[in-house]
Amino acid sequence: MSTAKKPPNSTGTPFVGHLLQFRREPLRLLSDLAGQHGDVVRFKMGPRTIYLINNPEYIKDVLVTNNRNFVKSRGLEMAKKFLGEGLLTSEGEFHRRQRRLTQPAFHRERINAYGEVMVDYADRMSERWQDGQTVNIAQEMMRLTLAIVGKTLFDADIEDEATEIGAALTDVMQLFERITSPFAALLELLPLPSNRRWLKAKERLDSTMYRIINQHRATDVDRGDLLSMLLMAQDEEGDGSGMTDQQLRDEAMTLFVAGHETTANALTWTWYLLSQHPDVEAKLHDEIDTLLAGELPKPDDFARLNYTEMVLTEAMRLYPPAWTLGRRALNDYRVGQYVIPANSIVLMSPWVMHHDARYFPEPFKFDPDRWKPEAREARPKFSYFPFGGGPRVCIGEQFAWMEGVLLIATIAQRWKMQLEPDQVIKPKPMITLRPAGGMRMQLTRRAEVLARNKSAFSSYGARDAALEEARAIVRNHVPKERSLVDELIEERRIEVERE
Ligand code: HEM
Repeated sequence: MSTAKKPPNSTGTPFVGHLLQFRREPLRLLSDLAGQHGDVVRFKMGPRTIYLINNPEYIKDVLVTNNRNFVKSRGLEMAKKFLGEGLLTSEGEFHRRQRRLTQPAFHRERINAYGEVMVDYADRMSERWQDGQTVNIAQEMMRLTLAIVGKTLFDADIEDEATEIGAALTDVMQLFERITSPFAALLELLPLPSNRRWLKAKERLDSTMYRIINQHRATDVDRGDLLSMLLMAQDEEGDGSGMTDQQLRDEAMTLFVAGHETTANALTWTWYLLSQHPDVEAKLHDEIDTLLAGELPKPDDFARLNYTEMVLTEAMRLYPPAWTLGRRALNDYRVGQYVIPANSIVLMSPWVMHHDARYFPEPFKFDPDRWKPEAREARPKFSYFPFGGGPRVCIGEQFAWMEGVLLIATIAQRWKMQLEPDQVIKPKPMITLRPAGGMRMQLTRRAEVLARNKSAFSSYGARDAALEEARAIVRNHVPKERSLVDELIEERRIEVERE
């Protein structure tokens, strides 16, 4: 090992290295370092040396093949202050046990059952929207995905509280921005307003969590949700004491946090990209209108909504919600011709890999066709890894795909979104990749009439020329869609009746 070379070094500013740049513009910094130095590069952040890995094979080795040589890095260690020993933050045997206990809640048939709740909640939100209304779509998506996690995993109706809980979670998350500060520990001890806000937010969230746990304990029935499973699993432990409220709280809080913000961001970026690419939006509408024929999607439709899934996949390529993953090496570690010393921090960035022109030509172009099966198979697996990989792969991955696709289908079936002018849309890498300052979108109701009349048509065969023509008009002249489509359909109805 000792003869192996050190990876190329990027020195940055004396004493602080790239710390300030990382705090100011982490996405640009990581992309620049990868662009300048290639597959492995080391750089300083204050006193710490970080190794950035930018090669799909090497990333696979860290996350999968040699995962036992790594633990989660300091960012997640800080998250422990809030998440405790939940799935995201725990390590070793304890993590493996918790993962085994939690896994059944994410089996395929469970996720299918969650699919109905997902569509139902999206439908309710969509019912509340008004034609012409402007909404902060980032906030709407957070609220929706939070309520879905609450209902599916904890059988708790927090739809009304979701905005408040979401705000408390944002306050908590903001504190994690300090992760990169060399003074993080010191700042925590000072009587700063941000510290007080953090404590208040934590108390608020804890009380919600404990209320949900107490309700479950009080009724003592299997509600078929994750929390019931965790409560039952404690009896199977056989040690009599089972899982403490604190452990339940940690798991529940972890799933609340990990299970909504990521998906909400993926959806927010999807709406943004669709609003900027009418051609893609038209293809998406076409798939949704054709397959669903005006009905709300069902969980089974997930497997058929292929283009919708490609759109979501591409949105998460351009804006991966988890933009970087970190690990700490336990022992010296060889990567290609280089060695990374024990205790070093290793970073792998979906943001960097997903914009690598070796795998994604014209990397900033939004092109869902990149995800046609042949193109997808031609790329190495870890050129795209929004959900990580190996034993710490996102436990909610299938949940998130189902949710993302069904929510896009439910909402896009009825609504188009237009970005309000005078906004600069910029990704803000906090714990997840949010749009800085939210995203204001104007809502336009799509031609419901298409949906309404399609069932009337179906007995005569809906795929006739008039309907195709109507679709083309919907695609090309959206603001006029309702009256024109109405006319065409009326004409066709008269024709059919005459026949
Ligand atoms: C688009 C949506 C999502 C994305 C992009 C995403 C991304 C990720 C990534 C990258 C990791 C691995 C982190 C690492 O290795 O350091 C992870 C872990 C995790 N995710 Fe997700 N996630 C999403 C949705 C969800 C959902 C819906 C849930 C739960 C309902 C969830 C729960 C978790 C948990 C508990 C872990 C920790 C797993 C473990 O270490 O055993 N995630 N997620």
